[in-house]
Amino acid sequence: MAVTQNGIIILGIESSCDDTGAAIIQDGVLLSNCVANQQIHEAYGGVIPELASRAHQQNILPVVDQALRQAKITKNQISAIAYTRGPGLIGSLLVGSSFAKGLALALEKPLIEVNHMQGHILAHLIQDETQNKQPNFPFICLTVSGGHTQLVVVRSPTQFEIIGETIDDAAGEAFDKSAKLLGLPYPGGPLIDQLAQTGNPHQFKFSQPQVNGLNFSFSGLKTNIMYFLKAETNKDPQFIANHLPHLAASIQFTIIDILLKKLKAASQQTGIKNIALAGGVSANKGLRAALVQAGQQNNWQVFIPPFAYCTDNAAMIAITGYYKYLAGDLSNQGVSASARYPL
Ligand code: KG4
Ligand code: ZN
Repeated sequence: MAVTQNGIIILGIESSCDDTGAAIIQDGVLLSNCVANQQIHEAYGGVIPELASRAHQQNILPVVDQALRQAKITKNQISAIAYTRGPGLIGSLLVGSSFAKGLALALEKPLIEVNHMQGHILAHLIQDETQNKQPNFPFICLTVSGGHTQLVVVRSPTQFEIIGETIDDAAGEAFDKSAKLLGLPYPGGPLIDQLAQTGNPHQFKFSQPQVNGLNFSFSGLKTNIMYFLKAETNKDPQFIANHLPHLAASIQFTIIDILLKKLKAASQQTGIKNIALAGGVSANKGLRAALVQAGQQNNWQVFIPPFAYCTDNAAMIAITGYYKYLAGDLSNQGVSASARYPL
């Protein structure tokens, strides 16, 4: 691989859902990480794919430009362009991948395709001013996002084995759909997190799934909450308004409990005690605290990403690009964006 006098400089581009991100990483060190969020979806209670693609189109050039400026890097200094190939919304992915391909052609730079879920995991390897400690290999990563819930054994930056995953809804979906039932706007995960802080997590009891092995299920919880709220609001129309923090805390407690039970089983089965968290739901304060506590109880080394790398961001795409570049794992113009793209 060509290493310039400036080292290896990777431009990362992320556009898999509703955040347009661009970041610069130089030799594993983060120089800039810019993101444009799309507020437009709030009004619809979920991400509208067509609107997301249009917003990516508007945002991508200014966000990439901002990332280069903040990093004080010119586009000619870039060693390679890493972009999210998938999984995600195809219209959104096409905007980022087409932009990356066009830029790579114009600058005559190599392209690197990145799996979004691998990006969430490798966010742990980003070096920045927070000097967060990095996990030693092998580690187990619980990746919890709006679209995925996975238990992954990570043996190196390029070796992954999924040992458990959801058979229906993702953990983030469980947060967002529960929030919707409580009348909260999208995305409801952060709102439940906030409300839960003043609620009693044991006020209401919700059902837990019986799923074999290390797999998860969250669709039953949603149905359980829906019927519970229907019955209670029939008796008292103000039930939700009067119990909002307790409802949020009890729902959050249930989701965290489901996640941690499987995480403990995964650690026992594999004997691995390096445990990391990744994905949007890892921003949840209750989950972060519960993992720290479980770490103390089980003698785990726990790795929790800084908030900036929990939800979708391009720094995680750039760091993955960096490790793929080091491994000589480059892509080409013929590769298409993929809505489904297994780890
Ligand atoms: O990783 P991410 O940004 O996008 C996907 O790849 O899906 O994750 C988004 C998900 C949403 O479901 C959102 O509600 C959830 O992460 N989320 C949270 C919190 N922050 C984001 N869920 C619970 N508590 C939070 N603080
Ligand atoms: Zn994500």
